Amino acid sequence: MTDTRPAPAGSAAPECPAHRDAVHLAGLEYQQTPSELYRDLRARHGTVAPVLLDGGIPAWLVLGYTEVSYVTGHDELFARDSRRWNQWDSIPADWPLLPYVGHQPSVLFAEGEEHRRRAGVITRALAVVDQFELARDCRHLADRLIAAFAGSGQAELMGDYAHALPMRAAVRICGMPHGGADTRQLVDDLRISLDAADGDDPVAAYTRVGERIHRLVREKRERPGPDVTSRMLTHPAGLTDEEIVQDLISVIAAAQQPTANWIGNTLRLLLTDERFALNVSGGRLSVGEALNEVLWLDTPTQNFIGRWAVHDTQLGGRQIRAGDCLVLGLAAANTDPQIWPEAHVGAENSSHLSFSNGEHRCPYPAPLLADVIARTAVETLLERLPDLVLAVEPGELTWRPSIWMRGLAALPARFTPSVVA
Ligand code: HEM
Repeated sequence: MTDTRPAPAGSAAPECPAHRDAVHLAGLEYQQTPSELYRDLRARHGTVAPVLLDGGIPAWLVLGYTEVSYVTGHDELFARDSRRWNQWDSIPADWPLLPYVGHQPSVLFAEGEEHRRRAGVITRALAVVDQFELARDCRHLADRLIAAFAGSGQAELMGDYAHALPMRAAVRICGMPHGGADTRQLVDDLRISLDAADGDDPVAAYTRVGERIHRLVREKRERPGPDVTSRMLTHPAGLTDEEIVQDLISVIAAAQQPTANWIGNTLRLLLTDERFALNVSGGRLSVGEALNEVLWLDTPTQNFIGRWAVHDTQLGGRQIRAGDCLVLGLAAANTDPQIWPEAHVGAENSSHLSFSNGEHRCPYPAPLLADVIARTAVETLLERLPDLVLAVEPGELTWRPSIWMRGLAALPARFTPSVVA
């Protein structure tokens, strides 16, 4: 069911006639089954749908595989710097999407030569990460996390495991000292700033993250090591410390939520789908298949804001004005019936758009590193706790109330209590 209410009083009134019957993307009603929303939108609006973001702010949701590929492949037409937006006058200071859309001087919002320079530094620094060492580190991290709950016979795998592991792996890749108190503090502050719970202060936590990353950059200038931060500092592009701080925070934040939800969504699939349940324990092939199936069918970054039109143009039969915001409907594009005419979705290949496409796509080595982290997390858990099962009925699992990130609110599991060294 989609919400076809007109924009509420006090919200930005859409001037564009196409937005008069736009769908509100904010609201809880379709978040448990977003695929129904995408199907419905496609049937009513085609491949580019008028939508309203929080507060009734108009935008376009790009649903077609071809259209998402086109938008992301043409940054001269659809660019990344959100300061182009023609809606800034309607955006209140406390707008909930501001942390994702407000311009920051980081690689995420850079364009053209400036983007190539900064993305090039990140790409080279990540490309040198040794995947075997990363797998070994992740296995140690996984063992430590599992040891904390193995004796109890039960765990909430999202909080206790899926979110915790990639965060630790990311700060380690960046060269934070192993297991120190301030590494633990940074991990905590990153969690709070990206995913605050009741009682947390995300602004204070984000400030502490900035301070700690600044200190890390100063430390690595003095004593470089075999880590991403040091490689960014010594790259011939000569980024300033401030640029490196911004981009390191972007790398860690970009790594955390999607990888955590990739792990969680894969565990859910393995624990609920009998095609995988038959041979999960030790079944490495099945884990690989489940990871790939999740990227096609339940991808973590469902929708991504976004791109901003550089000129008036057309897309999917829609008239797009300069400065309009386009939301990349990555999940909808992956399940576009145009690419799956037989209604069979998913393939062994990785031509999905889960890592986006084009100039701003998830930088080349990152999907490989995310795969190492996620695969090691899932395999280690299944090896250590071979009789792991869900502690609730599959239908009782709930998704987080977000149209942007597809992840479970909780994943309660039980198993025979054991001691993991
Ligand atoms: C080690 C883990 C990861 C790292 C270090 C990482 C890093 C990054 C960085 C630095 C960017 C910004 C690129 C730019 O603007 O030029 C980015 C973008 C992105 N990443 Fe990742 N990422 C990771 C994992 C993932 C995962 C698991 C997913 C989803 C399955 C994902 C999906 C995306 C998407 C959709 C974008 C947006 C691209 C766009 O604007 O078109 N990333 N990532």
